[in-house]
Amino acid sequence: MTDDVLTESRQLQGILNPGFLPVDNEPELVSLRPQRLVDYIGQVDVVETLKIAIEAAEKRNEVMDHVLFHGPPGLGKTTLAHIIAMETGGQMTVTSGPALEKGGDLVGILTHLESGDVLFVDEIHRMPKVVEEFLYSAMEDFTVDIVFDKGVHARSHKIPLKQFILVGATTRVGLLSAPLRDRFGIFRSLDFYSEKDLIRINKRSARLLDVEVKDDAALELSRRSRGTPRVVNRLLKRVRDYAQVKADGVVSVEIVHAALDLEGVDEKGLTRLDRRYLRTIIDFYKGGPVGIEAIAATLQEETDTLVDVVEPYLLKIGMVLRTSSGRRASRDAYRHLGYPVQEGLFNKFTRE
Ligand code: ADE
Repeated sequence: MTDDVLTESRQLQGILNPGFLPVDNEPELVSLRPQRLVDYIGQVDVVETLKIAIEAAEKRNEVMDHVLFHGPPGLGKTTLAHIIAMETGGQMTVTSGPALEKGGDLVGILTHLESGDVLFVDEIHRMPKVVEEFLYSAMEDFTVDIVFDKGVHARSHKIPLKQFILVGATTRVGLLSAPLRDRFGIFRSLDFYSEKDLIRINKRSARLLDVEVKDDAALELSRRSRGTPRVVNRLLKRVRDYAQVKADGVVSVEIVHAALDLEGVDEKGLTRLDRRYLRTIIDFYKGGPVGIEAIAATLQEETDTLVDVVEPYLLKIGMVLRTSSGRRASRDAYRHLGYPVQEGLFNKFTRE
């Protein structure tokens, strides 16, 4: 085959089979995730806690304590689990609460771990109770009890495990049982990031992606990123595309405005779903209070998506208030969406 034919054949294979990547044309996969603690921006207290725990365990020649991270999606729980494995030199195995259906699913994973390995369980609050019970002895004394047969023939067999590090991640720490929660030596909540930290993350990612972002553009991107590194990185990729196709490739503040308007991300970083959520409370429920199930049914969205993804940031910026009788839209929500603020609605409540 001539070079031309070879190239064409490879391109065709690429089209027919998206999994096939011609070797000499392979797109570069750039990971924006920091690999080490020194590269991690923000969450300084969490980073310091981990540094101390890792160093202390190393000095004592021990395996570090189990770690539980709590917080909304996109704030770095998975990234920190990867970093723990990198820093301690262990291999990382990734699973999630809902993926572990039976006790055997977990036992199969546990028995294959080597000493110092990290087992990362995402959405650990969604792990079935029968599976969770195997974790208690595994976390505490690195054994699992397997029961063979049933009734009078039942025999229990204790299997020793290698000393591993369990890293759990949850968006809903309240759903975790006390026995499980108490077995984590380190428990840290991740907060939304400051504008300053998001600008630093944005600049670091821009460097890795080899794209020029003006200072005012980086500030605007950070303001619209809901305090979340995953969002800032996602939006950076969108504005990079926009700048490349519609301009000269440089990300200016004008490009950010145009690209994010197209994405439906407004000047406060609210998405279409955020705004639909707020409008539902205002239009259908007179501003609330209204229960989350009613909002979810009206929006035809999963309650979990609203509670885990939508509400945390809206609560943080005071657009929504959670009261004992349900959710209420705040004055700021009315103003932001361009509704007249009916003072009578707010006077009877003290907090907004
Ligand atoms: N990319 C995503 N999150 C990050 C963080 N916290 N620090 C540095 N880079 C990141």
